Amino acid sequence: MATIKCFFILLSCFFSISNGRVPPAEFPVKAVNLGGWLVTEGWIKPSLFDGIHNKDLLDGTGIQFKSAKSGKYLSAETFKIGGSAKIVAKKTSAAEWETFKLWRVDSSNYSFRAANTQFVALGLDGKQFQSLITVAKDPTIRETFEIIRKADDLNRVRIKGLNGFFWQVKSEGVVTADWDRFNTTWEDDDPSVFLITTVGGYQGEYQVTNGYGPLTAPQVMKEHWNTYIVENDFKFIAENGLNAVRIPVGWWIAGDPNPPKPFVGGSLQALDNAFLWAQKYGLKVIIDLHAAPGSQNGMEHSATRDGSLEWGLTDESIQQTVAVIDFLAARYAKNPSLLAVELLNEPLAPGVALDTLTRYYRDAYDAVRKHSSTAYVILSNRLGPADHSELFALASVLTKPVIDVHYYNLFSTIFTNMTVQQHIDYVKTNRTAELASITSPNGPKIFVGEWVAEWDVKGATRQDYQAFARAQLHAFEKATFGWAYWTLKNAKEHWSLEWMINNGYLKA
Ligand SMILES: *[C@@H]1O[C@H](CO)[C@@H](O)[C@H](O)[C@H]1NC(C)=O
Ligand SMILES: *[C@@H]1O[C@H](CO)[C@@H](O)[C@H](O)[C@H]1NC(C)=O
Ligand SMILES: *[C@@H]1O[C@H](CO)[C@@H](O)[C@H](O)[C@H]1NC(C)=O
Ligand SMILES: *[C@@H]1O[C@H](CO)[C@@H](O)[C@H](O)[C@H]1NC(C)=O
Repeated sequence: MATIKCFFILLSCFFSISNGRVPPAEFPVKAVNLGGWLVTEGWIKPSLFDGIHNKDLLDGTGIQFKSAKSGKYLSAETFKIGGSAKIVAKKTSAAEWETFKLWRVDSSNYSFRAANTQFVALGLDGKQFQSLITVAKDPTIRETFEIIRKADDLNRVRIKGLNGFFWQVKSEGVVTADWDRFNTTWEDDDPSVFLITTVGGYQGEYQVTNGYGPLTAPQVMKEHWNTYIVENDFKFIAENGLNAVRIPVGWWIAGDPNPPKPFVGGSLQALDNAFLWAQKYGLKVIIDLHAAPGSQNGMEHSATRDGSLEWGLTDESIQQTVAVIDFLAARYAKNPSLLAVELLNEPLAPGVALDTLTRYYRDAYDAVRKHSSTAYVILSNRLGPADHSELFALASVLTKPVIDVHYYNLFSTIFTNMTVQQHIDYVKTNRTAELASITSPNGPKIFVGEWVAEWDVKGATRQDYQAFARAQLHAFEKATFGWAYWTLKNAKEHWSLEWMINNGYLKA
């Protein structure tokens, strides 16, 4: 028996080598991101939001109210009364001060955050709530209103406060919360009828969990985590020339199984599974803290509630984040698949100050080193107006540091009108130069932690995409740590490495 088994091992070994499938070396890392899995991004998997009631009214969506009767917009841009602003209806067009960000309580109850970051509240006039003002504090019941939509015209609404009365626009643009007639014809002559327009919005983890609410969200997320990425995906990744995965996680993972609301437990189990599968298929894992408390960039992929960037504004948020890194490092330090811990994805300048970030990176680095002397520690460069080498001084005093840069031929006007050839030349010339300028023999390793073969070129052919992908692969081969494609699966074909590989667009 033993001889036969041995023979087969030799044989399979022989075939593997002859197929060119030798076990992958650690470097350079050729990885794929598992985006949209443990940190939600609606554009990656839009169907995740399908079951939400009033799914156009999620946290952070801007909303504008036009009085059906007067045709004027509600505005918070007005004289201040003791630190708060009075809501009036005088403007004929809507801009920043006529836009209120939604904070969702449940599918029909909301708070409205004005441009001054204060919430619309019922003002106490004498013994009665009548006026509408903005006040600076966390919303309570006084700042919570019910949106009642017309059944066959959802943008026609009435707004009701805790006093049981509806908002109305009176003459001269005066707005009060005292319309007491429950019935309406929904016609333009009813001063309690408003036409709403929504502006922008986010589809991140905050929106999906708060959108479904505490009863449904745990089931929906569990189903998503269990089905979106499965063992077979790790097999696919390993069979297609890759040797690692970068896994975005959110800060709430450390609170599993009972993270702070609205986040729900269960992503930790999914991450545990990922480590099991990684080990089985010989892949390395890069844990990437993609969403920090308060949001480090105000984007949906860092689980912002309404576009605000609040991470790092208090020491508490920093210490809380260090604790998350400590938790993750402690849990996975001994796992042979752990390659690196990325401390914070894409902090945004100038909202996140360099000295704040440096302080956090030092403490979070120490938290990793408490548990592991071998894991690489990845520092993500800041997005926005920031020097690409600003983290070098810090990196020089650390062991096994890596700098993460993200190279997209998107998100900047320099790419707007580029042709296929210009894109390819940009990669060959400018990206290569950029990468070389931050690479040095004694410096930190460099990781192109996100890139994609997608651009704003209209009508590009399959061959164009192949050439673009090849140019990038060739350029990023020089990254001393390696690279990671964004992302494994995506509703948009070119953003899905799985689709790109299966359709012959890209070969890692
Ligand atoms: C919204 O709040 C009102 C008043 O508290 C309540 O009666 C209603 O049930 C709430 N709506 C939902 C969908 O929970
Ligand atoms: C609203 O109108 C309906 C039908 O027209 C009527 O039956 C009901 O009593 C009215 N409700 C109130 C509160 O006026
Ligand atoms: C792109 O080209 C269009 C049409 O020629 C032009 O109007 C626009 O200004 C260009 N945009 C940029 C950012 O160069
Ligand atoms: C790319 O690099 C070339 C050569 O250094 C330079 O002339 C060109 O302006 C750069 N392109 C952009 C879009 O920055």
